[in-house]
Amino acid sequence: MYICLEGIDGSGKSTQLKSLGKWLEDCGLTVSQIREPTDSPVGLLIRKMLQKPGAQDENFQRTLALLFAADRTLLMDNIRKKEEMNHVILSDRSFYSSLAYQNGEEWIAQINQYALKPDLVILLDLDTETALKRCEGIDSFEEKCFLDNVRNKYLKLAQQHDFMVVNANNGFNKVHDDIKRIVASKLGMCI
Ligand code: TYD
Repeated sequence: MYICLEGIDGSGKSTQLKSLGKWLEDCGLTVSQIREPTDSPVGLLIRKMLQKPGAQDENFQRTLALLFAADRTLLMDNIRKKEEMNHVILSDRSFYSSLAYQNGEEWIAQINQYALKPDLVILLDLDTETALKRCEGIDSFEEKCFLDNVRNKYLKLAQQHDFMVVNANNGFNKVHDDIKRIVASKLGMCI
């Protein structure tokens, strides 16, 4: 089972994913946690490039899209192996992040044609004001417009691809419980 958390920066994916993983392990399941960008050399290059100012420039984003797709392609065999071992794979982001953050839907789909589709996508939806407050230091108007656009694309993707949407404006415990309920139902567990 390949489960993915998606959401804009500051939506709390990483924290929620850790808690979800711990809860599933306590329930006796074997969990593998992954994240995109990964820790591969391509992922490390991406993280370095993301520190560059002006990262929203069009050709910079195209280059990033190619690198994200490459990083993801390297990850797929690893996911397949874990699936064969019956692990629950919890992923911080997937190719849907590229559809939400990078432009050119058709092209993004094309370069991600080898990416596995998660069995379940949970979108942590958060308003951008709160998200920016959580991401200390970034609160420019440009940044807000960019994130507003990403959030809207996520909400559209959620409708098109049946994501489960969780209101991430709620406190940690409520969000954790909402996620647990969705995952338990998908895995056929009683909670
Ligand atoms: P993020 O999950 O926020 O990493 P961290 O845990 O280090 O904060 O991802 C880093 C950034 O990369 C984030 O702004 C979203 C962006 N991103 C894309 O633009 N496209 C993608 O395909 C992926 C996977 C991430």
